[in-house]
Amino acid sequence: MNEVKQEKVVVRGLEDVAAAETRISYVDGVNGQLFYQGYNIHDIAEKASYEEVVFLLWNARFPTKDELSTFRSKLVAGMRIPSQVVEMIKLTPPNSHPMSILRTAVSMLSIYDPDTEDIGISGNLRKAIRLVAQIPTIIADLHRVRKRQPLLSPDPNFGIAANFLYMLRGTPPDELEQKVIDLIMVLHADHGFNASTFTARVIASTLSDMHSALVGGIGALKGPLHGGANQKVMKMLREIDNVDMVQAYIEGMLENKKRIMGFGHRVYRVEDPRARHLRKYSELLSERIGKRHLFEISHRIEKIVKNAKDIYPNVDFYSATVQNALGIPEDYYCTVFAAARSSGWIAHIMEQYGDNRLIRPTSKYIGEMGRPFISIENRTI
Ligand code: ACO
Repeated sequence: MNEVKQEKVVVRGLEDVAAAETRISYVDGVNGQLFYQGYNIHDIAEKASYEEVVFLLWNARFPTKDELSTFRSKLVAGMRIPSQVVEMIKLTPPNSHPMSILRTAVSMLSIYDPDTEDIGISGNLRKAIRLVAQIPTIIADLHRVRKRQPLLSPDPNFGIAANFLYMLRGTPPDELEQKVIDLIMVLHADHGFNASTFTARVIASTLSDMHSALVGGIGALKGPLHGGANQKVMKMLREIDNVDMVQAYIEGMLENKKRIMGFGHRVYRVEDPRARHLRKYSELLSERIGKRHLFEISHRIEKIVKNAKDIYPNVDFYSATVQNALGIPEDYYCTVFAAARSSGWIAHIMEQYGDNRLIRPTSKYIGEMGRPFISIENRTI
Protein backbone atom coordinates (compact mmCIF):
# COMPACT_ATOMS: atom_id res chain seq x y z
CA MET A 1 0.00 0.00 0.00
CA ASN A 2 1.08 3.58 -0.61
CA GLU A 3 2.08 5.62 2.41
CA VAL A 4 1.06 9.26 2.71
CA LYS A 5 4.04 11.57 2.84
CA GLN A 6 3.17 14.61 4.97
CA GLU A 7 5.29 17.30 6.57
CA LYS A 8 2.69 18.01 9.24
CA VAL A 9 3.76 18.34 12.88
CA VAL A 10 1.24 16.99 15.37
CA VAL A 11 1.09 18.73 18.74
CA ARG A 12 -0.69 16.19 20.93
CA GLY A 13 -3.41 17.80 23.02
CA LEU A 14 -2.57 21.12 21.31
CA GLU A 15 -0.25 21.77 24.26
CA ASP A 16 1.16 25.32 24.10
CA VAL A 17 -0.51 25.97 20.74
CA ALA A 18 -2.06 29.46 20.52
CA ALA A 19 -5.29 28.91 18.58
CA ALA A 20 -6.46 32.54 18.61
CA GLU A 21 -5.89 35.94 20.19
CA THR A 22 -7.99 36.96 23.19
CA ARG A 23 -8.34 39.91 25.55
CA ILE A 24 -10.66 38.20 27.99
CA SER A 25 -8.31 36.38 30.33
CA TYR A 26 -4.68 35.39 30.64
CA VAL A 27 -3.28 32.39 32.46
CA ASP A 28 0.39 32.82 33.37
CA GLY A 29 1.38 29.24 34.07
CA VAL A 30 4.98 29.99 35.01
CA ASN A 31 4.22 32.55 37.70
CA GLY A 32 0.83 31.15 38.73
CA GLN A 33 -1.13 34.27 37.84
CA LEU A 34 -4.59 34.74 36.36
CA PHE A 35 -5.88 37.98 34.83
CA TYR A 36 -9.45 38.89 33.81
CA GLN A 37 -9.32 41.68 31.19
CA GLY A 38 -5.93 42.68 32.63
CA TYR A 39 -6.95 42.60 36.32
CA ASN A 40 -5.11 40.19 38.59
CA ILE A 41 -7.52 37.67 40.13
CA HIS A 42 -6.05 38.36 43.59
CA ASP A 43 -7.14 42.02 43.26
CA ILE A 44 -10.66 41.03 42.21
CA ALA A 45 -11.43 38.07 44.48
CA GLU A 46 -13.43 39.08 47.56
CA LYS A 47 -13.57 42.68 46.29
CA ALA A 48 -15.70 42.51 43.14
CA SER A 49 -19.06 40.73 43.00
CA TYR A 50 -19.85 38.04 40.42
CA GLU A 51 -22.09 40.50 38.56
CA GLU A 52 -19.23 43.02 38.37
CA VAL A 53 -16.96 40.30 36.97
CA VAL A 54 -19.54 39.21 34.37
CA PHE A 55 -19.92 42.85 33.29
CA LEU A 56 -16.11 43.13 33.10
CA LEU A 57 -15.75 39.98 30.97
CA TRP A 58 -18.39 41.17 28.51
CA ASN A 59 -17.54 44.89 28.39
CA ALA A 60 -13.78 44.99 29.10
CA ARG A 61 -14.36 47.38 32.03
CA PHE A 62 -15.97 47.32 35.46
CA PRO A 63 -19.47 48.85 35.75
CA THR A 64 -20.31 52.07 37.57
CA LYS A 65 -22.67 51.84 40.56
CA ASP A 66 -25.72 52.67 38.40
CA GLU A 67 -24.71 50.28 35.65
CA LEU A 68 -24.18 47.52 38.18
CA SER A 69 -27.56 48.08 39.76
CA THR A 70 -29.33 47.88 36.37
CA PHE A 71 -27.27 44.87 35.28
CA ARG A 72 -27.93 43.01 38.53
CA SER A 73 -31.69 43.67 38.33
CA LYS A 74 -31.79 42.43 34.72
CA LEU A 75 -29.91 39.27 35.69
CA VAL A 76 -32.14 38.46 38.66
CA ALA A 77 -35.25 39.20 36.57
CA GLY A 78 -33.90 36.85 33.88
CA MET A 79 -33.70 33.83 36.20
CA ARG A 80 -37.15 32.51 35.25
CA ILE A 81 -37.08 29.43 32.99
CA PRO A 82 -39.87 28.27 30.63
CA SER A 83 -42.36 25.85 32.23
CA GLN A 84 -41.63 23.36 29.42
CA VAL A 85 -38.03 23.10 30.64
CA VAL A 86 -39.26 22.43 34.19
CA GLU A 87 -41.55 19.72 32.80
CA MET A 88 -38.61 18.15 30.95
CA ILE A 89 -36.56 18.17 34.18
CA LYS A 90 -39.43 16.35 35.95
CA LEU A 91 -39.34 13.62 33.28
CA THR A 92 -35.63 12.81 33.68
CA PRO A 93 -34.55 9.60 35.45
CA PRO A 94 -33.51 10.33 39.05
CA ASN A 95 -30.05 8.83 38.65
CA SER A 96 -29.05 10.78 35.53
CA HIS A 97 -26.11 13.13 36.10
CA PRO A 98 -27.05 16.78 36.77
CA MET A 99 -24.56 17.88 34.08
CA SER A 100 -26.46 15.79 31.52
CA ILE A 101 -29.73 17.45 32.52
CA LEU A 102 -28.11 20.89 32.45
CA ARG A 103 -26.73 20.22 28.96
CA THR A 104 -30.16 19.09 27.75
CA ALA A 105 -31.97 21.99 29.45
CA VAL A 106 -29.69 24.62 27.89
CA SER A 107 -30.28 23.03 24.51
CA MET A 108 -34.02 23.16 25.19
CA LEU A 109 -33.85 26.83 26.26
CA SER A 110 -32.73 27.67 22.71
CA ILE A 111 -36.10 26.49 21.39
CA TYR A 112 -37.94 29.01 23.58
CA ASP A 113 -35.49 31.94 23.35
CA PRO A 114 -36.79 34.62 20.96
CA ASP A 115 -33.22 35.62 20.04
CA THR A 116 -31.70 32.18 19.40
CA GLU A 117 -30.95 32.77 15.73
CA ASP A 118 -29.91 36.42 16.18
CA ILE A 119 -26.14 36.42 16.56
CA GLY A 120 -25.83 40.19 16.26
CA ILE A 121 -24.40 42.17 19.20
CA SER A 122 -27.69 43.21 20.82
CA GLY A 123 -29.34 39.80 20.31
CA ASN A 124 -26.30 38.15 21.84
CA LEU A 125 -26.30 40.46 24.85
CA ARG A 126 -29.99 39.77 25.53
CA LYS A 127 -29.38 36.02 25.35
CA ALA A 128 -26.21 36.32 27.41
CA ILE A 129 -28.09 37.86 30.33
CA ARG A 130 -30.83 35.25 30.12
CA LEU A 131 -28.41 32.32 29.92
CA VAL A 132 -26.22 33.37 32.85
CA ALA A 133 -29.40 33.91 34.87
CA GLN A 134 -31.26 30.77 33.77
CA ILE A 135 -28.48 28.21 34.31
CA PRO A 136 -28.47 28.58 38.14
CA THR A 137 -32.27 28.21 38.11
CA ILE A 138 -32.09 25.00 36.09
CA ILE A 139 -29.65 23.53 38.62
CA ALA A 140 -31.66 24.63 41.66
CA ASP A 141 -34.95 23.45 40.14
CA LEU A 142 -33.48 20.07 39.24
CA HIS A 143 -32.36 19.50 42.82
CA ARG A 144 -35.71 20.54 44.27
CA VAL A 145 -37.70 18.47 41.77
CA ARG A 146 -35.65 15.43 42.79
CA LYS A 147 -36.19 16.18 46.47
CA ARG A 148 -39.92 16.70 45.82
CA GLN A 149 -39.68 20.22 47.23
CA PRO A 150 -41.51 23.27 45.85
CA LEU A 151 -39.59 25.41 43.36
CA LEU A 152 -38.57 28.87 44.53
CA SER A 153 -38.48 32.25 42.81
CA PRO A 154 -35.38 34.44 43.12
CA ASP A 155 -35.22 36.95 45.96
CA PRO A 156 -34.59 40.43 44.46
CA ASN A 157 -32.41 41.30 47.46
CA PHE A 158 -29.83 38.70 46.45
CA GLY A 159 -27.54 38.59 43.42
CA ILE A 160 -27.24 35.58 41.11
CA ALA A 161 -24.89 33.52 43.28
CA ALA A 162 -26.76 33.94 46.59
CA ASN A 163 -30.06 33.37 44.79
CA PHE A 164 -28.71 30.13 43.40
CA LEU A 165 -27.91 28.88 46.90
CA TYR A 166 -31.24 30.08 48.24
CA MET A 167 -33.25 28.47 45.42
CA LEU A 168 -31.29 25.21 45.73
CA ARG A 169 -31.41 24.77 49.49
CA GLY A 170 -34.56 26.68 50.36
CA THR A 171 -32.79 28.54 53.18
CA PRO A 172 -31.37 32.02 52.61
CA PRO A 173 -27.57 32.03 52.79
CA ASP A 174 -26.07 34.00 55.68
CA GLU A 175 -23.52 36.75 55.10
CA LEU A 176 -20.48 34.44 54.99
CA GLU A 177 -22.22 31.95 52.70
CA GLN A 178 -23.24 34.78 50.34
CA LYS A 179 -19.64 35.95 50.21
CA VAL A 180 -18.26 32.47 49.57
CA ILE A 181 -20.71 31.39 46.85
CA ASP A 182 -20.06 34.72 45.11
CA LEU A 183 -16.31 34.09 45.39
CA ILE A 184 -16.69 30.61 43.88
CA MET A 185 -18.52 32.13 40.91
CA VAL A 186 -15.87 34.85 40.50
CA LEU A 187 -12.97 32.38 40.62
CA HIS A 188 -14.56 30.02 38.09
CA ALA A 189 -15.78 32.69 35.65
CA ASP A 190 -13.02 32.42 33.05
CA HIS A 191 -9.70 30.75 32.39
CA GLY A 192 -8.12 31.31 29.00
CA PHE A 193 -8.40 28.66 26.30
CA ASN A 194 -9.34 25.72 28.50
CA ALA A 195 -11.00 22.70 26.83
CA SER A 196 -14.61 23.82 27.34
CA THR A 197 -13.97 27.42 26.24
CA PHE A 198 -12.13 26.19 23.18
CA THR A 199 -15.06 23.88 22.39
CA ALA A 200 -17.51 26.78 22.70
CA ARG A 201 -15.35 28.95 20.44
CA VAL A 202 -15.07 26.21 17.80
CA ILE A 203 -18.87 26.01 17.68
CA ALA A 204 -19.25 29.81 17.57
CA SER A 205 -16.68 29.96 14.76
CA THR A 206 -19.11 28.10 12.48
CA LEU A 207 -21.53 31.03 13.20
CA SER A 208 -23.81 28.64 15.02
CA ASP A 209 -25.84 30.13 17.88
CA MET A 210 -24.80 30.92 21.47
CA HIS A 211 -26.93 28.16 23.01
CA SER A 212 -25.25 25.53 20.80
CA ALA A 213 -21.82 26.79 21.82
CA LEU A 214 -22.78 26.62 25.51
CA VAL A 215 -24.12 23.09 25.13
CA GLY A 216 -20.73 22.08 23.72
CA GLY A 217 -18.94 23.87 26.56
CA ILE A 218 -21.03 22.06 29.17
CA GLY A 219 -20.28 18.70 27.51
CA ALA A 220 -16.52 19.38 27.57
CA LEU A 221 -16.55 20.64 31.16
CA LYS A 222 -18.31 17.50 32.41
CA GLY A 223 -15.23 15.29 31.97
CA PRO A 224 -13.16 14.32 35.04
CA LEU A 225 -9.99 15.77 33.49
CA HIS A 226 -11.73 19.18 33.46
CA GLY A 227 -14.65 20.38 35.61
CA GLY A 228 -15.79 16.93 36.67
CA ALA A 229 -12.75 16.63 38.95
CA ASN A 230 -14.35 18.44 41.94
CA GLN A 231 -16.96 15.72 42.44
CA LYS A 232 -14.23 13.05 42.29
CA VAL A 233 -12.23 14.98 44.92
CA MET A 234 -15.13 14.72 47.36
CA LYS A 235 -15.47 11.00 46.64
CA MET A 236 -11.77 10.57 47.45
CA LEU A 237 -12.09 12.55 50.71
CA ARG A 238 -15.04 10.38 51.75
CA GLU A 239 -13.11 7.20 50.94
CA ILE A 240 -10.11 8.33 53.01
CA ASP A 241 -12.29 9.66 55.85
CA ASN A 242 -9.41 9.84 58.36
CA VAL A 243 -6.22 11.91 58.37
CA ASP A 244 -4.19 8.85 59.41
CA MET A 245 -5.24 7.03 56.25
CA VAL A 246 -4.08 9.73 53.83
CA GLN A 247 -0.46 8.64 53.40
CA ALA A 248 -1.27 5.02 52.52
CA TYR A 249 -4.18 5.98 50.25
CA ILE A 250 -2.23 8.56 48.22
CA GLU A 251 0.95 6.48 48.02
CA GLY A 252 -1.13 3.56 46.79
CA MET A 253 -2.71 5.74 44.11
CA LEU A 254 0.64 7.08 42.95
CA GLU A 255 2.26 3.63 42.94
CA ASN A 256 -0.56 2.42 40.71
CA LYS A 257 -0.06 5.44 38.42
CA LYS A 258 -3.53 6.73 39.23
CA ARG A 259 -4.29 10.45 38.97
CA ILE A 260 -5.10 12.37 42.12
CA MET A 261 -8.17 14.39 41.26
CA GLY A 262 -7.89 18.14 41.80
CA PHE A 263 -4.13 18.15 41.17
CA GLY A 264 -2.04 19.13 38.17
CA HIS A 265 -2.73 21.50 35.34
CA ARG A 266 -1.89 21.78 31.67
CA VAL A 267 -0.77 25.41 32.03
CA TYR A 268 0.17 26.04 35.68
CA ARG A 269 3.58 24.76 36.66
CA VAL A 270 3.12 26.25 40.14
CA GLU A 271 0.06 26.63 42.34
CA ASP A 272 -3.21 27.60 40.67
CA PRO A 273 -3.86 31.11 42.08
CA ARG A 274 -7.54 30.26 42.62
CA ALA A 275 -6.61 27.47 45.04
CA ARG A 276 -5.25 30.03 47.55
CA HIS A 277 -8.68 31.62 48.04
CA LEU A 278 -10.54 28.34 48.12
CA ARG A 279 -8.10 26.77 50.60
CA LYS A 280 -8.78 29.63 53.04
CA TYR A 281 -12.55 29.11 52.91
CA SER A 282 -12.23 25.34 52.92
CA GLU A 283 -10.60 25.62 56.34
CA LEU A 284 -12.97 28.27 57.66
CA LEU A 285 -16.18 26.61 56.49
CA SER A 286 -15.20 22.99 57.26
CA GLU A 287 -14.44 24.11 60.82
CA ARG A 288 -17.72 26.02 61.00
CA ILE A 289 -19.86 23.02 60.04
CA GLY A 290 -17.93 20.66 62.35
CA LYS A 291 -16.15 18.81 59.54
CA ARG A 292 -12.63 20.10 60.06
CA HIS A 293 -11.28 16.64 59.27
CA LEU A 294 -12.21 17.19 55.59
CA PHE A 295 -9.89 20.19 55.45
CA GLU A 296 -7.17 18.35 57.39
CA ILE A 297 -7.34 15.40 54.98
CA SER A 298 -7.19 17.79 51.99
CA HIS A 299 -4.23 19.66 53.40
CA ARG A 300 -2.37 16.42 54.09
CA ILE A 301 -3.04 15.20 50.53
CA GLU A 302 -1.68 18.48 49.21
CA LYS A 303 1.60 18.06 51.14
CA ILE A 304 2.09 14.44 50.08
CA VAL A 305 1.36 15.04 46.38
CA LYS A 306 3.60 18.12 46.35
CA ASN A 307 6.50 16.18 47.90
CA ALA A 308 6.06 13.09 45.78
CA LYS A 309 5.33 14.61 42.37
CA ASP A 310 5.84 18.38 42.63
CA ILE A 311 2.22 18.78 41.55
CA TYR A 312 -0.09 21.42 43.04
CA PRO A 313 -3.83 21.67 43.67
CA ASN A 314 -5.94 23.17 40.91
CA VAL A 315 -9.24 25.05 41.28
CA ASP A 316 -11.21 21.83 41.70
CA PHE A 317 -9.40 20.56 44.80
CA TYR A 318 -10.52 22.94 47.55
CA SER A 319 -13.72 23.86 45.73
CA ALA A 320 -15.01 20.39 46.74
CA THR A 321 -14.87 21.03 50.50
CA VAL A 322 -16.12 24.60 50.11
CA GLN A 323 -19.15 23.45 48.13
CA ASN A 324 -19.70 20.63 50.62
CA ALA A 325 -19.77 23.14 53.48
CA LEU A 326 -22.31 25.28 51.60
CA GLY A 327 -24.68 22.30 51.47
CA ILE A 328 -24.36 21.73 47.72
CA PRO A 329 -24.82 18.03 46.87
CA GLU A 330 -21.71 16.31 45.52
CA ASP A 331 -23.07 15.48 42.07
CA TYR A 332 -23.94 19.17 41.55
CA TYR A 333 -20.39 20.55 42.02
CA CYS A 334 -19.61 20.58 38.31
CA THR A 335 -22.91 22.32 37.54
CA VAL A 336 -21.85 25.18 39.84
CA PHE A 337 -18.62 25.40 37.83
CA ALA A 338 -20.71 25.46 34.62
CA ALA A 339 -23.01 28.19 35.98
CA ALA A 340 -20.01 30.42 36.72
CA ARG A 341 -18.10 29.55 33.55
CA SER A 342 -21.12 30.29 31.35
CA SER A 343 -20.19 33.97 31.73
CA GLY A 344 -16.67 33.31 30.42
CA TRP A 345 -17.88 31.05 27.62
CA ILE A 346 -20.25 33.80 26.51
CA ALA A 347 -17.48 36.43 26.59
CA HIS A 348 -15.38 34.17 24.36
CA ILE A 349 -18.29 33.37 22.05
CA MET A 350 -18.92 37.11 21.54
CA GLU A 351 -15.20 37.74 21.00
CA GLN A 352 -15.15 34.95 18.41
CA TYR A 353 -18.17 36.39 16.55
CA GLY A 354 -16.52 39.83 16.67
CA ASP A 355 -13.48 38.75 14.63
CA ASN A 356 -14.41 35.37 13.26
CA ARG A 357 -12.39 32.89 11.34
CA LEU A 358 -13.71 29.34 11.10
CA ILE A 359 -11.66 27.14 13.44
CA ARG A 360 -10.81 24.18 11.29
CA PRO A 361 -7.46 22.55 11.97
CA THR A 362 -6.07 19.65 10.04
CA SER A 363 -4.72 16.25 11.03
CA LYS A 364 -1.80 14.10 10.02
CA TYR A 365 -3.24 11.10 8.23
CA ILE A 366 -1.45 7.90 9.23
CA GLY A 367 -3.76 5.39 7.58
CA GLU A 368 -3.34 3.51 4.31
CA MET A 369 -3.96 4.85 0.81
CA GLY A 370 -5.01 3.27 -2.48
CA ARG A 371 -6.66 0.15 -1.06
CA PRO A 372 -8.42 -1.89 -3.78
CA PHE A 373 -12.23 -1.97 -3.45
CA ILE A 374 -13.64 -5.55 -3.21
CA SER A 375 -17.34 -6.05 -3.90
CA ILE A 376 -19.39 -7.57 -1.05
CA GLU A 377 -19.82 -11.01 -2.62
CA ASN A 378 -16.05 -11.46 -2.84
CA ARG A 379 -15.18 -10.14 0.67
CA THR A 380 -13.63 -12.36 3.36
CA ILE A 381 -12.28 -11.36 6.76
N1 ACO B 1 -2.07 12.98 39.79
C1 ACO B 1 -0.93 12.29 39.62
N2 ACO B 1 -0.04 12.55 38.65
C2 ACO B 1 -0.34 13.58 37.82
C3 ACO B 1 -1.50 14.33 37.95
C4 ACO B 1 -2.38 14.00 38.97
N3 ACO B 1 -3.52 14.68 39.15
N4 ACO B 1 -1.52 15.28 36.99
C5 ACO B 1 -0.40 15.11 36.27
N5 ACO B 1 0.31 14.08 36.78
C6 ACO B 1 1.61 13.60 36.32
C7 ACO B 1 1.48 12.66 35.14
O1 ACO B 1 1.31 11.33 35.54
C8 ACO B 1 2.81 12.88 34.47
O2 ACO B 1 3.81 12.22 35.21
P1 ACO B 1 4.99 11.44 34.51
O3 ACO B 1 5.70 12.47 33.71
O4 ACO B 1 5.76 10.87 35.65
O5 ACO B 1 4.31 10.41 33.65
C9 ACO B 1 3.06 14.37 34.66
O6 ACO B 1 2.35 14.72 35.83
C10 ACO B 1 2.56 15.23 33.52
O7 ACO B 1 1.20 14.90 33.28
P2 ACO B 1 0.43 15.19 31.93
O8 ACO B 1 -0.63 14.17 31.77
O9 ACO B 1 1.38 15.38 30.79
O10 ACO B 1 -0.20 16.58 32.22
P3 ACO B 1 -1.39 17.20 31.42
O11 ACO B 1 -1.03 18.58 31.13
O12 ACO B 1 -1.79 16.41 30.23
O13 ACO B 1 -2.57 17.04 32.47
C11 ACO B 1 -4.44 17.33 33.73
C12 ACO B 1 -3.33 18.03 32.99
C13 ACO B 1 -5.28 16.53 32.73
C14 ACO B 1 -5.32 18.38 34.39
C15 ACO B 1 -3.86 16.39 34.78
O14 ACO B 1 -3.06 17.11 35.68
C16 ACO B 1 -4.91 15.58 35.51
O15 ACO B 1 -5.35 14.55 35.01
N6 ACO B 1 -5.35 16.03 36.72
C17 ACO B 1 -6.37 15.36 37.47
C18 ACO B 1 -7.75 15.80 37.00
C19 ACO B 1 -8.05 17.22 37.41
O16 ACO B 1 -7.84 17.63 38.53
N7 ACO B 1 -8.59 17.96 36.45
C20 ACO B 1 -8.96 19.37 36.67
C21 ACO B 1 -7.98 20.27 35.97
S1 ACO B 1 -8.32 21.96 36.28
C22 ACO B 1 -9.68 22.27 35.37
O17 ACO B 1 -9.90 21.76 34.33
C23 ACO B 1 -10.64 23.16 35.92
